[in-house]
Amino acid sequence: MESRGIWFCSSAIDLLFVFVHLNHSSQRSCIACDISVLNSNTSTRNPKPSDPISKMKSVLGLVAALSLGASQVSGHYIFQQLGVGSTKFSVFEHIRKNTNYNSPVTSLTSNDLRCNAGGESGANTVTVDVKAGDAFSFKTDTAVYHQGPISLYMSKAPGAASDYDGSGDWFKIYDWGPTFSGGQATWAMRSDYSYNIPKCIKDGEYLLRIQSLAIHNPGGVPQFYVSCAQVNVTGGGNATPGPTVKIPGAFKATDPGYTANIYNNFKSYTVPGPAPFSC
Ligand SMILES: *[C@@H]1O[C@H](CO)[C@@H](O)[C@H](O)[C@H]1NC(C)=O
Ligand SMILES: *[C@@H]1O[C@H](CO)[C@@H](O)[C@H](O)[C@H]1NC(C)=O
Repeated sequence: MESRGIWFCSSAIDLLFVFVHLNHSSQRSCIACDISVLNSNTSTRNPKPSDPISKMKSVLGLVAALSLGASQVSGHYIFQQLGVGSTKFSVFEHIRKNTNYNSPVTSLTSNDLRCNAGGESGANTVTVDVKAGDAFSFKTDTAVYHQGPISLYMSKAPGAASDYDGSGDWFKIYDWGPTFSGGQATWAMRSDYSYNIPKCIKDGEYLLRIQSLAIHNPGGVPQFYVSCAQVNVTGGGNATPGPTVKIPGAFKATDPGYTANIYNNFKSYTVPGPAPFSC
């Protein structure tokens, strides 16, 4: 028995969301299309189909696209592939496989914020050796298309990373925030995010976490797209990284970087979470 419904929700003036709910083998997919990023990967407001007729045309186009094969389409995006140096590993080889397709986590109090739904166990994930200072990358299935910051966090496992649920201390190592130029904000929206393991952290096994906080829909609930890789750091130092936070707990509904309206008088931005640690 399959039931299918389509809802249209219009949010900020120039955003249209199409949610396709498929009750099919108890699977559920969600498609969110942000019209503003169909044309551009910035948050500028220029080429917008803001009149009702253009909006309707856009919606009809989406519906046509969806009806071609709604069951094959999966919405959103997931960080599914780790790279270390020039090596790209298999999808979900060193990243914990989630159970929510490529949907976001939206609860600020859920343990799913750590490593995504289904990511509390690392039993089926292989921990990979990395050298302190090594470059690594997270690759998505579909390029990130929701505006918002991308952040990288680490948390040292008390023992094996594969046994660690992420309930300990997390420190941030990097943020991709917006850049402002000529009154316009540009976000780092792409399919590959690279950075380096801090040189000075202690050897041992860690969860390495990436987070895309999607704030493209002001007034709606921001979405967290997260994945954790399991890494075994060698050749590191003796630093105690900080400041640290717990997840959940690190992000609050009152954080200016969570409540920001990126379409209205948007001139500065503070990425949620602690200051990044570097060495
Ligand atoms: C849009 O994304 C492409 C590919 O990542 C990049 O080369 C380009 O500079 C971006 N455009 C803007 C305006 O940021
Ligand atoms: C982590 O690296 C150390 C040092 O090379 C090694 O002894 C240990 O077996 C590694 N652990 C895993 C899970 O690969």
